[in-house]
Amino acid sequence: MKKQPFILLLTIVFLLLSCNQKAKISKDEMIEKKIDSLLVLMTLEEKIGQMQQLSISRHFNDTVYDLVRQGKIGSFLNARNLAMRNELQRIALEESRLRIPLIFGRDVIHGYKTIFPIPLGQAASWNPVLVEKASAIAAKEASSDGIDWTFAPMLDIARDPRWGRIAESPGEDPFLASMLARAMVRGFQGEDLTDPSTIAACGKHFVGYGAAEGGKDYNTTLIPEAELRNIYLPSFKAFVEEGGQTIMSAFNDLNGIPTSGNEFTLRQILRNEWRFDGFVVSDWESVAEMIPHGYCKDEAEAAQKAILAGVDMEMVSQTMQDHLPSLIQNGTISESFINLAVKNILRVKFRLGLFEKPYADSLENVILTEDNLKTAREIATESCVLLKNEDNVLPIKSSVKRIAVIGPLADAPLDQLGTWAFDGRPENSVTPLKAFQEMSEGKKIIYSPGLKTSRDKDMEGIKQAVAAARQSDIVLLFLGEEAILSGEAHSRAFLNLPGAQEQLVEALTKTGKPLVGIILAGRPLVLSKIEDKLSAILYAWHPGTMAGPAIHDLVFGKVVPSGKLPVSFPRAEGQIPVYYNHKNTGRPPREEQRNITPGDPMNPVGFSANYLDLDYLPRYPFGYGLSYTSFDYSNILLSADTIGFKDTLDIEILIKNTGAYDAQEIVQLYIRDIYASITQPVKELKGFKKIMISAGDSLNVNFGLTVNDLSFYDNEGSFLAEPGRFELFVGKNSRETIKASFYLK
Ligand code: GLC
Repeated sequence: MKKQPFILLLTIVFLLLSCNQKAKISKDEMIEKKIDSLLVLMTLEEKIGQMQQLSISRHFNDTVYDLVRQGKIGSFLNARNLAMRNELQRIALEESRLRIPLIFGRDVIHGYKTIFPIPLGQAASWNPVLVEKASAIAAKEASSDGIDWTFAPMLDIARDPRWGRIAESPGEDPFLASMLARAMVRGFQGEDLTDPSTIAACGKHFVGYGAAEGGKDYNTTLIPEAELRNIYLPSFKAFVEEGGQTIMSAFNDLNGIPTSGNEFTLRQILRNEWRFDGFVVSDWESVAEMIPHGYCKDEAEAAQKAILAGVDMEMVSQTMQDHLPSLIQNGTISESFINLAVKNILRVKFRLGLFEKPYADSLENVILTEDNLKTAREIATESCVLLKNEDNVLPIKSSVKRIAVIGPLADAPLDQLGTWAFDGRPENSVTPLKAFQEMSEGKKIIYSPGLKTSRDKDMEGIKQAVAAARQSDIVLLFLGEEAILSGEAHSRAFLNLPGAQEQLVEALTKTGKPLVGIILAGRPLVLSKIEDKLSAILYAWHPGTMAGPAIHDLVFGKVVPSGKLPVSFPRAEGQIPVYYNHKNTGRPPREEQRNITPGDPMNPVGFSANYLDLDYLPRYPFGYGLSYTSFDYSNILLSADTIGFKDTLDIEILIKNTGAYDAQEIVQLYIRDIYASITQPVKELKGFKKIMISAGDSLNVNFGLTVNDLSFYDNEGSFLAEPGRFELFVGKNSRETIKASFYLK
């Protein structure tokens, strides 16, 4: 029987004392009393120890065990396995003075052993129920390896596909991102944080990290307060409201103040406004990086600014460990700041039940189970977005007997997992090639990669690929990016297909065979050079372990594509940033203003916000995705044409499945505030419903809008709605909609 922690004995004493109190105290109040009774016993060194997280991958050596014994570490990330995790915990529990349990973190971003689509792909499913289910599976698999806490969900709104971390993001829209944030908190944390198969979530990277200038990772961000509150903060607010237990500060400086030393975001917004009572962990060495940011002169100042701003736990860098004692001794910092941070950390540890149950047991039969793989296949099918399907070349007809499977991503078991798939193993991947070889009964599969990797420039293999295509009735062409071309620190200035992939497409065009492009990538790509040569395009992102079966189900029509874009696709890098919820400007673009013939006189009449050399609309808009069927939207009905501040506007729309396939449709509701005290976006997503409609059937879909949906933050940080005219749009994407209007009185 493992020794129970000293704190447990303390709790029993405390309970005996408190049980004679009349009032029954709540669980939270009980935790607060336990924290207080523990805090008074802690030395300053032990308090600061709780605020230190070290990485096993960076710091592991014999001294680590002594640091744990001395109570100088509160958390580890990247513990290698359950045995190591429990051994470190045993030392904390049995050999340290106060026996405070450690908390073990890991990046479980889109699955642990069963890898789901990258978060941007999951966002394309617009299916919070499925995202929650996938997160719950990830939590169960991770906790069976002793992980208490994941550094997910990443909630950074991303409008720039050059940025490699768009792959981990929920896309460009705050409303969709907020729904996904809530789903992932529910999935990771479950109903009961002490449940050994759940893990604490971490909303990251707080905040504005996705607005990195030029799409260059870690780059500076300049975000006016209204934009910050209307675009970048909502997903984190949803995370906190849903009960997310930890927040991670970020690498970027925000309006000149690094977010790991930013009192306005970490204390004013997160604590004072949102009443967040979990703890804030810095990003990897982001506290020490305030020195190269030029915001701190040395590590002592970095520690000081981080603790004063509201960072509770320092990841990997040790500025607080090294400098807080002297900062307190010399009166620069009051110990009350340390106490606040330690209470936040202890609160989460108590909530997770780590004091009662510090050791992790490997849960039976939770890894890569049939159910897990079934969910991975389901969410991967719902994440894929059909961008083009000329002459309904998909789904593959029964008359098609010979299928050429070509391209560098047809059999790339590691790349299909995508970025941040730390614990996913390529040997568990079912690649498209494998799936088509095993599942396409009665079909002849002819395989030729054409190129070895997505960046391969050696065109030697293209000849064989062309020969394979010539033997086929149809070519499935698996193109895109290796996993390593997106993710942290992996931004790209050019967004076309890397390597000689465009040449591969060109060569295959000559065979006259129908080419179906299946794109595996971590970001929107610029497909302008190849899209006219492809009869169909299925955008699969990086779909995870079950990429093969999912794509197989879709191209054979076992499942009808239902994914819709969570991010706009630019026509060219020069068009970036391009996103749907943009401002109208005083001179919105007009098509006729694009053609400037030589010798045209300088004509100030009718200038508008255009490029001379490129269409101003994105190649594919936010919310776009085709199906094998078609949907007709009609009969939009509003419950009123004027509403007051206390009313709900009911909206109904009739959707008819006018095609031959039963299919899911994502019905989207947008609004536009026509005039307001600060300029408003031309559209804002305020609702969506993913519904199944049988072929030929119709369905009435209902939405409700309240004054809260019509409100925005102004430049003074006030959240308000203003009377006036609004337009609303219901449609299949942010461009194809039916419009109505109403007044807010
Ligand atoms: C990284 C990432 C962060 C991750 C952390 C721990 O640098 O920015 O998202 O959770 O370090 O791996």
